[in-house]
Amino acid sequence: MLTRRILGALAGATALTLAIAAPAVAEPIVLKFSHVVSPDTPKGKGAAKFEELAELYTDGAVDVEVYPNSQLYKDKEELEALQLGAVQMLAPSLAKFGPLGVQDFEVFDLPFIFPSYDALHKVTQGDVGKMLFDKLADKGIAGLAYWDNGFKVMSANSPLHVPDDFLGLKMRIQSSKVLEAEMNALGAVPQVMAFSEVYQALQTGVVDGTENPPSNMYTQKMNEVQSDATLSYHGYLGYAVIVNKQFWDGLPEDVRAGLEKAMAEATEYANGIAKEENDKALAAMMETGTTTFHELTEEERAEWIAALAPVHEEMADRIGAETIAAVKAATAE
Ligand code: LMR
Repeated sequence: MLTRRILGALAGATALTLAIAAPAVAEPIVLKFSHVVSPDTPKGKGAAKFEELAELYTDGAVDVEVYPNSQLYKDKEELEALQLGAVQMLAPSLAKFGPLGVQDFEVFDLPFIFPSYDALHKVTQGDVGKMLFDKLADKGIAGLAYWDNGFKVMSANSPLHVPDDFLGLKMRIQSSKVLEAEMNALGAVPQVMAFSEVYQALQTGVVDGTENPPSNMYTQKMNEVQSDATLSYHGYLGYAVIVNKQFWDGLPEDVRAGLEKAMAEATEYANGIAKEENDKALAAMMETGTTTFHELTEEERAEWIAALAPVHEEMADRIGAETIAAVKAATAE
C-alpha cells in the first residue's frame, strides 16, 4: 500500500517535472495556398518564396502549405473554397474574378491596354490597384498583392498573322467576358475552360488554340500540341494574391505583420523574375522547335489593334467606365 502510494507520488512528481521542462508547444497555424500552375512559373516560384519567408518571419507560427497544379482545386472551385475557408490563400488570374461578381478586374484583359510592364505597374502598384482590392471586402476576401506573369501570345495549329486567320477557330479562354469579346472580335469561337484541362483539349482538338504568356504555355507543354504561335503580346495576364478575410483579420497582430513582410518580399521577388521567366520559356520553346513563332509586321499589328479596339467600348458598361478611365489615366505617359 505504502509502496503504491510512493510510486504514485513519484509518478506525479515526474509528470510535473516533465510539464515544467517541456512547455506546451502551440500548433502552427496552417495556411493553405492553392494555385493552378506549375511550381516552375513566376506564380509558382512566388508562392514558394512566400512559404519560405512566411515561416521565417513568423518563427514557425505559420505553416504554409502550397498546392500547385490544381492539385486541390480547379479555377472556379478555388474561389469557392477560399470563401468557405477550405483554403486561406490563392493567386487567381485577374481574368477570373467575374464569377465573384467583381467585374472591374476584367479591365486588365482589355486588348493592348498596357504597352509595358512599367505602365501596368502604375496601376497595380498605385491607387487604382488599391481601389480594386477594396471591392473584394464584401465578398469576404482581402487583396494582398499583385503578381505579374506576362503578356500573352496567341497559339493554334495554323499561323495567326491577321484577324482573318482566326475565323471559326475554337479558342480556349479564361472566364472573362472581355476575353470572350476579344475572341469574338477576331472572328473566333471562344470557349471557357479550366486551366488544368487546356493541354488535353488542345491535344484532342476540342479547341484549336489559346492565349497565354510563354511561361504557362511552356510549363503546360502546350507547345507540343500547337504548331504556330504569334508573339502578339496583345493582352496581359497577372494575378491578385488574395486571402480569406476572416482568417486574415483573426490572426494575432504580430503573426499578420510577419506574413505581410513575407508577402511584400515575395511580391518583389515574383515581379522581379516574371519577365525573365517568360523570356526563358519562349527561348526554350523556340529551341525545341515544335511550334513556329511568328512576329507581327507593323501592318499586321495595326490590323489586330483595329479589330480589337471596339472591345474597349463594348465592355465599358461591364467593367465600369470609371475603372477604365482610372486605368487609362494612371497609364497615360
Ligand atoms: C489560365 O487559366 O490560363 C491562367 O489563368 C492560369 C494561371 O493561373 O496563370
